[in-house]
Amino acid sequence: TTYSLLILPGDGIGPEVMAEVRKVIGWFENNRGLSFDVSEDLVGGAAYDKHGKPLADETMAKAQAVDAVLLGAVGGPKYDELDFSLKPERGLLRLRKEMDLFANLRPAQCFDALADFSSLKREVVAGLDILIVRELTSGVYFGEPRGISADDTPGNEGGRVGVNTQRYTSGEIRRVARSAFELARKRGNRVCSMEKANVMESGILWREEVQWVHDNEYPDVALSHMYADNGAMQLVRNPRQFDVILTDNLFGDVLSDAAAMLTGSLGMLPSASLGAPMANGRPKALYEPVHGSAPDITGQGKANPIACILSFAMCLRYSFDLGVEADMLEKAVEQVLADGLRTADLMGPEGGTPVSTSEMGDRILAALSAQ
Ligand code: NAI
Ligand code: MG
Repeated sequence: TTYSLLILPGDGIGPEVMAEVRKVIGWFENNRGLSFDVSEDLVGGAAYDKHGKPLADETMAKAQAVDAVLLGAVGGPKYDELDFSLKPERGLLRLRKEMDLFANLRPAQCFDALADFSSLKREVVAGLDILIVRELTSGVYFGEPRGISADDTPGNEGGRVGVNTQRYTSGEIRRVARSAFELARKRGNRVCSMEKANVMESGILWREEVQWVHDNEYPDVALSHMYADNGAMQLVRNPRQFDVILTDNLFGDVLSDAAAMLTGSLGMLPSASLGAPMANGRPKALYEPVHGSAPDITGQGKANPIACILSFAMCLRYSFDLGVEADMLEKAVEQVLADGLRTADLMGPEGGTPVSTSEMGDRILAALSAQ
């Protein structure tokens, strides 16, 4: 099998961290006999500079055709004054929209060596490995009707109304539920679905539909349900009780940001967005670090490549079904951290000498070779 991959390094530190992923890809080709068909293209400010828009149509077409897209980061001060439609992030938004990426994946993994970076106590988070699956294209951020009524008329204070509508169809719930169950099968085989079925109609529908998908299509996966407010409590009380958390757009936005703080630095956080299965059965997929283009450290060799490397590990696991290789890569990251290697963003108050972006990449390759 040859796995096709479109790499979009983007702006700022994007190309710097992506260069380390290219090394990792080369390592797997040379040492594990894997075959990747890698193409590279422009997105964001880099695409604007060349084409006058943040994502060329040819690039969009390529993204639709490959097994997976890996993106670095977009944006930078140089593009801040551009028209809204030309801004670098519009390139990323176009990819997400046209690929119809409805499932947003945010893992929260806490490597033992970094447990002291967590907002919680080491005993609560060491070894944590959970995955939040958030519905991304529907729910209250998109539901109609929405709007704000006109200004109060004199003598009629307090009458303005702001409206948003939480609206989900069974189809929207079922497709993201299927994503979560598929992912659970490649991990710990457990899904906890979170909503507010006690007070929301859409929550009742969510619970019924998730249960239906489970009973009819994924009876082998363990499913539980939890009210989202209790879920927030459980996430900070005992996060290791979870494997995959499935939730809607609004609750997922809040819960995934909270979960990110369980693990420490922005330079460590991977993510993915998945769409419907393609002809080959694999979902459309875009993998990217959570962080941005970090203009404050661009070009200085300071960027932590781990978030991008872990995004590639997710790609190996979820798009290419290469769970063994994904485990190897995550173990290599764990090893270099255990060895005390730190990029500047991972320096604690006790200080030390940080390693550069490329040195971190080299040491991860060495750790792979040592396995
Ligand atoms: P940012 O994530 O780029 O940086 C925030 C802080 O974290 C900075 O101090 C940066 O140096 C540090 N940081 C981020 N990633 C790091 C890494 N891998 N290693 C070490 N340190 C790291 O967010 P910010 O500063 O708000 O935005 C900068 C630009 O990035 C803006 O143009 C923004 O629009 C864009 N952005 C793009 C995103 C994307 O491409 N998905 C997401 C967030 C922001
Ligand atoms: Mg958020």
